[in-house]
Amino acid sequence: MKNYIIALDGPAGSGKSTIAKVIAKNFGLTYLDTGAMYRMVALYILENNIDFNNVADVENILNNIKVDIIDDKFILNGKDVSLEIRTPEVTKIVSPVSAIKAVRVKLVDLQREISKGKKVILDGRDIGTVVFPNADLKIFLVASPEERAKRRVKDYASKGITEDFETVLKDILERDHTDSTRKESPLKKAEDAIEVDTSFLNIEESVQTISNLIKEKIGG
Ligand code: CDP
Ligand code: CDP
Repeated sequence: MKNYIIALDGPAGSGKSTIAKVIAKNFGLTYLDTGAMYRMVALYILENNIDFNNVADVENILNNIKVDIIDDKFILNGKDVSLEIRTPEVTKIVSPVSAIKAVRVKLVDLQREISKGKKVILDGRDIGTVVFPNADLKIFLVASPEERAKRRVKDYASKGITEDFETVLKDILERDHTDSTRKESPLKKAEDAIEVDTSFLNIEESVQTISNLIKEKIGG
């Protein structure tokens, strides 16, 4: 079967990466977690004490950043940072960092390069609107902010990080706002995307819903 692109967009905690991983395995696709790429840039900025409010400073260091994804591991300048990119500290600054145009240009180029000649599922915020506006299937995943915050608190707890529900909910709402109101590639549903609400679906049911869409639209 020919190569194809599946765009999976939506806000934090809607279930994108969990679902994309299972779908990629079941359908034999390459999975690209574009959020992790933005997180690697944010981690570099944090570790090198760069002021992310100063756009020129960020532009100046972009050439020092090499982002690789090898066997599910996220590699920043040769070092595996798969765990470091998920901390609350990185999560707090990743939205403003992602709003900088030069950061997006660099990472979108890389996303298109990695996807070339493959069957791919990409998850992110702007896959269906900007990165691959001609994607073969576009899905926009949503869930209520409270459900998403509940899931995130559980995720943190499983990694030994204690974060209270109210703090996580506030962070999620703030990130939703920054991501959807920014000038460059805001988080929004593409006109031709299919919305799937996972608030009342467990992981298995979410995967089933999306598998059916793939079989219907692409043939799988
Ligand atoms: O996993 P979670 O949903 O918390 O976030 P993520 O997918 O890892 O993305 C982290 C941040 O990167 C988002 O809040 C966005 O600010 C940014 N992002 C983006 O701007 N464009 C993308 N295609 C993916 C992520
Ligand atoms: O990638 P994104 O931020 O959209 O979400 P995720 O990291 O895939 O999912 C956040 C958490 O919600 C994970 O722990 C998932 O296992 C969980 N989840 C769930 O409980 N029910 C779903 N229908 C989807 C995800």
